[in-house]
Amino acid sequence: MRIQISALDFQYKIRQELFRNINLSIPLQRRVVITGDSGSGKTSLVKLISGLLKPDKGQIIFEMNGATQRNIHFGYLFQNPDDQFIHFNIEREVAFNLENRGMSSAEMQVKAAEALEEIDLIDRKSDSPNRLSGGEKQRLALAGMMITQPDILILDEPCSFLDIFTQIRLYEKIDVLIKQGVSVIWISQEVHEIRMADYVIALEQGQVIYTGNSADYLKNFRNSDYEA
Ligand SMILES: Nc1ncnc2c1ncn2[C@@H]1O[C@H](COP(=O)(O)OP(=O)(O)OP(=O)(O)O)[C@@H](O)[C@H]1O
Ligand SMILES: [Mg+2]
Repeated sequence: MRIQISALDFQYKIRQELFRNINLSIPLQRRVVITGDSGSGKTSLVKLISGLLKPDKGQIIFEMNGATQRNIHFGYLFQNPDDQFIHFNIEREVAFNLENRGMSSAEMQVKAAEALEEIDLIDRKSDSPNRLSGGEKQRLALAGMMITQPDILILDEPCSFLDIFTQIRLYEKIDVLIKQGVSVIWISQEVHEIRMADYVIALEQGQVIYTGNSADYLKNFRNSDYEA
C-alpha cells in the first residue's frame, strides 16, 4: 500500500523548474507528514499527488490491495480556507459532498446536519461560508470531506487557523481515520505535529532532503530530541 512517485519533473509555466527527478515511495494507511520551509514545494507536491497539477514527466502510481488503483477518492483541505467553498450556504456546502452517491436528498440533509452538529455550526447552516472565521471555515471544510470517506486525506497546514481545542479534536479524529484504514498526508512545519508522524518527507527548494521516521528527522534537522 504505497504511492510510488518515479522520475517526476514539474515546473510552473512562468517559473524555473521546481521538481526534477523526484522519486518517493510513500506508505499509505499511515500518518505521513510533509515538511520544509516556505516555498520548498510542499503544496505543489500534494497537488501533484491529488491530480490538481500534472507532472511534466514521470509517474505517480497508487498501489492498494495488491493492485494499481486509478480511482482514488481524495479529501483535500486547502492551505487557504477561502479556496475551499463554492456554495452560497453552509448546509449546501456540506451536502454537495454527498451528491452522485445514490442518496435521497432527505438522507443527504440528515448526514449534513449530523456533520454540522459535530462542528457546532448547525445554527449557522443558512449563512454564507464566507461569513465564517478562518478556524470555522477550516472546520466546515473538514466536516465536508469527512462525510465522503476519502481513501487519502490531504491536509495542507490544517492547524494554522484552528484554536488549540479544535486542533486536539482534529488529532483525535485523524487517529480514528488511520485506524479505519484512511491514508493521511499532512503538511506541517510544527515539531509537535511532525512528532506524531509515522513517516516524514522533508523538502528544501524542490528537493527531497529526508525521508524516514520522525525521531531521526527531528534530531538531525530540527535539533530536537525525541521523547517517546
Ligand atoms: N501557481 C503558481 N505559479 C507559479 N509559481 C508558483 C505557484 N504556486 C507556487 N509557486 C512557486 O513554487 C514554489 C513552491 O511553492 P509551494 O506553494 O509548493 O511551497 P510550500 O512549501 O507549500 O510553501 P508554504 O509553506 O509557504 O505554503 C515557490 O517558489 C512558489 O513561489
Ligand atoms: Mg504551502
